[in-house]
Amino acid sequence: MKVISLVGARPQIIKEAVVQEQLEKSGIQEILVHSGQHYDHDMSDIFFRVLKIKQPDYNLSVGSGTHGQITGKTMMAFEEVVMKEKPDVVLVYGDTDTTLAGALVGAKLKIPVAHVEAGIRQEPRDMPEEINRKVTDHVSDLLFAPSQLAVENLAREGITEGVYFVGDVMYDLFLKMKPHFNYSVIHELSLEEDGYVVATIHRDFNTDDPVRLRWILENLQELSKQLRVVFPMHPRTRKRVKEFGLEDMLTGLDVIQPLDYLSLMGLVMHCAFVITDSGGLQKEAYFCGKRALIVMPDTGWRELTDAGWNVLVDSVGTSFVPVGKLIGSNNKEPFFIQVYGEGNASSLIADVFNKSYDHV
Ligand code: UD1
Repeated sequence: MKVISLVGARPQIIKEAVVQEQLEKSGIQEILVHSGQHYDHDMSDIFFRVLKIKQPDYNLSVGSGTHGQITGKTMMAFEEVVMKEKPDVVLVYGDTDTTLAGALVGAKLKIPVAHVEAGIRQEPRDMPEEINRKVTDHVSDLLFAPSQLAVENLAREGITEGVYFVGDVMYDLFLKMKPHFNYSVIHELSLEEDGYVVATIHRDFNTDDPVRLRWILENLQELSKQLRVVFPMHPRTRKRVKEFGLEDMLTGLDVIQPLDYLSLMGLVMHCAFVITDSGGLQKEAYFCGKRALIVMPDTGWRELTDAGWNVLVDSVGTSFVPVGKLIGSNNKEPFFIQVYGEGNASSLIADVFNKSYDHV
């Protein structure tokens, strides 16, 4: 059996790390394609290196652009690869423009599409990632759900066939890589256990609105008077801070380059709490036993907010520092009930492939 996997952005590259290993163990041939949506060393290459992911067989080098440009260019280039390679399955991950492009190419060529992280739903509906994941789910044949809630979300939209609750490949990755977490940033910045917050902000609705971005930075600055705030800054955020003239709002924060997976996890393991708008990091914080303040109106990972572990903050103009301090000082015991599976999602995915398609 032959699978073509398409990755392009950070969160997909790291998921590929564990899936790739299991496909290989299961005797499934994998062709790996990188769209090139993320291309900076810190956003792409470094993940291949630290997670020992094989180099892509094809790099489509689409680069940045509007959603239409990224999706369109990826579709055109990926279609050629798929037509040449004639895979049994096109495998896509998550909710980026690369994901959508891959799913549409597979569906239009009538090649079964497999979606890892299917069924996640989140307001606002017009958020690019929400559009991507919804359309992807509706054209997919195999839908690998990371949670029961994701299975229910799909059922609500009439999708019940080909749905498998396998758990979250991010949990597989966490368990596999925990012994290799890199704690060097803690030493480099002379951080103290529980004496700092890890903040990441990159969603368009947070970065592209100057009022909202200022509000977030004001809060981080306020918090930095009490705790160190380590802020690995996404290139999109860096660009907007400059464009809106908000550089002064970074004074007092420990602004650093985006971190690779092992270094970010090492940093989170010893922080007081996390502030983020990343879907992945809010769960990873939980795996690390840390709570997260989520700067979003909603989350696709409601199990954690419903349980009161993570907290959403969205009221521009109000201070979220008190909520942050509360969750930082009240480190609940993780309610570990395996909502995201048992850490074997990638091997379950490989099993489904082998059962669903002839093993050539
Ligand atoms: C994308 C995904 C998002 C994911 C995130 C992880 C979409 C719609 N969104 O958002 O789901 O959580 O990746 O980071 O696909 N840039 C660089 N260097 C890079 C990559 C990006 O400078 O290597 C800058 C460019 O100015 C670019 C901007 O960041 O225009 C945004 O990049 P893009 O890939 O469009 O979206 P992300 O915000 O990264």
